[in-house]
Amino acid sequence: MKLTRSDFPQGFLFGAATAAYQIEGSSFGGCGPTHWDTFAKGPENVVRAEDGAVACDHYHRWEGDLDLLRDAGMDAYRFSTSWARVLPEGRGQVNQEGLDFYDRLVDGCLARGLRPFQTLYHWEMPSALADLGGWTNPDVADWMADYAEVITNRIGDRVHSIATLNESWCVAYLSHFLGHHAPGLRDIRAAARAMHHVNKAHGRTMTRLRDLGMQNCGIVLNFEATEPATDSAADRAAAVTQDATHNRWFIEAITKGTYPEEALQGFGPHLPRGWQDDMAEIAQPIDFLGVNYYTRGLVAADPEATWPGTRPVTGPLDKTQMGWEVYPEGLKRTLTRMAQDYVGDLPVFVTENGMAWPDAVGTDDEARIAFIDAHMGAMHDAIAAGVNLQGFFYWSLLDNYEWAFGYEKRFGLVHVDFETLDRTPKASYHALKSAIAPRKNVP
Ligand code: NOJ
Repeated sequence: MKLTRSDFPQGFLFGAATAAYQIEGSSFGGCGPTHWDTFAKGPENVVRAEDGAVACDHYHRWEGDLDLLRDAGMDAYRFSTSWARVLPEGRGQVNQEGLDFYDRLVDGCLARGLRPFQTLYHWEMPSALADLGGWTNPDVADWMADYAEVITNRIGDRVHSIATLNESWCVAYLSHFLGHHAPGLRDIRAAARAMHHVNKAHGRTMTRLRDLGMQNCGIVLNFEATEPATDSAADRAAAVTQDATHNRWFIEAITKGTYPEEALQGFGPHLPRGWQDDMAEIAQPIDFLGVNYYTRGLVAADPEATWPGTRPVTGPLDKTQMGWEVYPEGLKRTLTRMAQDYVGDLPVFVTENGMAWPDAVGTDDEARIAFIDAHMGAMHDAIAAGVNLQGFFYWSLLDNYEWAFGYEKRFGLVHVDFETLDRTPKASYHALKSAIAPRKNVP
């Protein structure tokens, strides 16, 4: 790789990210059922109806997985805690086994010199709460804060940072408006409520974490570089609307306490009554912003479609196994936009960036190495442009459960054989390891 650790500021953290449902195995250790277990079994929701019951069996193999991070010379590990593993019914009875697991995991990170970056909600809603409406129920804000308190009381003294949610847009829009993720709704009223309640839950959870004396608390949002497919006025307007629903809705609520007008045009009439009263709590200060970035979003106007009247367009650039265009400039643009328009000097982390590629063990993994290299370049440029970027987490450490795509799409630095569950580091693991090896002493 062209760039190495010495090209980044002193103290810049390199790590890898995972999420509980995607790797742990939800059938072990007293974990309760979640809406992903059942969504996966619905008709045509997930490729081959695969679920996370076993996943990478990380629940039993976590020590080896942490060794892989340490052996790669990583500084940090981003993982999520599963709400249903901590509270199988979402509320009430605590699963001690689950708490013990996260306790061991955090100690395991510290023993290996890895800073633990925790995410509280990475997409698996306990079924008992999904039955009550999940993200469409305003009480979800208190349910989530209560869960945050239980897990924080156990591991909060040792985690380096806590993110409330992972990718609020996916939790709300992708899952309640586009129907691609659990609970699989295509309903504007449910979507509008979820769009607001994820923010409300973020705010309520931040309040609780502050009450518990926690610092280094923030959120992880996903941004795409939205661009109009052509220069026509209609396509440019479509891009403005998509940017408002995808990129601006969450970050503006959190940093300014407002929702963009272009998104309110569609969601406004369906928001819960009195939503304005929640905005102050939503907009309380955060300590860092996590940016997940993968690709750009080319968009055209679709006069036939209902609001937002847009349709995605396939672009001409090289694509990953997901069909996503490789577009590192978009990462630089996103990071500089965040600093200039929203967060100023606040610490920012790239909490996810990576690519899926249908690689087998022993291939050269060139495409992934080039992808990481190009995105490291984009981060380097963003830092040069003044962004207070403090770390980068590759998605993902392991090949894992890629939600609606099951186990087909492989994002890992480490190959997982889903028959034997054997782990084999790919060439990209070794390339990243060399790139982030300890800096030479420069005078
Ligand atoms: C974002 C999500 O946070 C993660 O769960 C997912 O696997 C990756 N993107 C890749 O799609």
